[in-house]
Amino acid sequence: MNLSITKDMLDLDRIPLHIAIIMDGNGRWAQKRNLPRTAGHKAGAETLRSIMRTAGMLGVKAITAYAFSTENWKRPAYEVNFLMSLFDSYLTDEIQTLHKENVRVVFSGDLSRLPDKIKVKAEKTAQITSENNGLILNLAVNYGGQAEILNAIKQIVTDVKAGVLTGEDIDDKTFSGYLYTAGLPELDLLIRPGGDMRISNFLLWQMAYAEIWFTKTFWPDITENHLYQAIYDFQQRDRRFGALENK
Ligand code: FPP
Repeated sequence: MNLSITKDMLDLDRIPLHIAIIMDGNGRWAQKRNLPRTAGHKAGAETLRSIMRTAGMLGVKAITAYAFSTENWKRPAYEVNFLMSLFDSYLTDEIQTLHKENVRVVFSGDLSRLPDKIKVKAEKTAQITSENNGLILNLAVNYGGQAEILNAIKQIVTDVKAGVLTGEDIDDKTFSGYLYTAGLPELDLLIRPGGDMRISNFLLWQMAYAEIWFTKTFWPDITENHLYQAIYDFQQRDRRFGALENK
């Protein structure tokens, strides 16, 4: 990929407010270097740090990063355990830095299945950073898009039964409010490195009018230049939201 876009070529008034990232290609990145797959995840965590910093400086309001899907439990135990300990040390080591950098950390996914130690740290991180008004880092952990929608439906049914809500109240806005991403800006852009061109059960509802940017580059090799390129390409697109051309 010819990465010729620089920061000054971006229209800073039209920066995507919410970017989602499928951090794919870690395992292949490591294998190419004769390293264990887990080394790729470690390098991937570093990439997330640097991309967040660049995104924050550009004025992006929220990053949703797919860190662990509901399907990732099917991976070998050593890899699942490694990822869990990576989240654990990330939450331990990063909390002060994230807080200092005014980042608000939120989570999407069913945290109840995570080891208690991590669940507690995740909740603590969210609570400590809850008043921050800089970049929002939404970590999708034990996340599945279909599970998220089913979870929202179950809560809606409960609220309807309790008389908090009527059937007529349920529109797209109300529904969005029951998703893990409630309160976050609308999703503008999905970035998927690693070469696969699919959504992989990520943010199914939120993706409705998001632009998608794919690259074959593996996630640990993604740099700020890829982000500039993705945002530049996003700004060249004509987002019609189902209406006619923007003239
Ligand atoms: C997909 O690559 C990546 C994952 C399943 C894990 C992503 C997690 C991180 C990058 C860790 C960073 C996050 C935090 C919060 C510390 P893959 O393993 O499917 O790669 P492959 O397709 O090359 O096998």
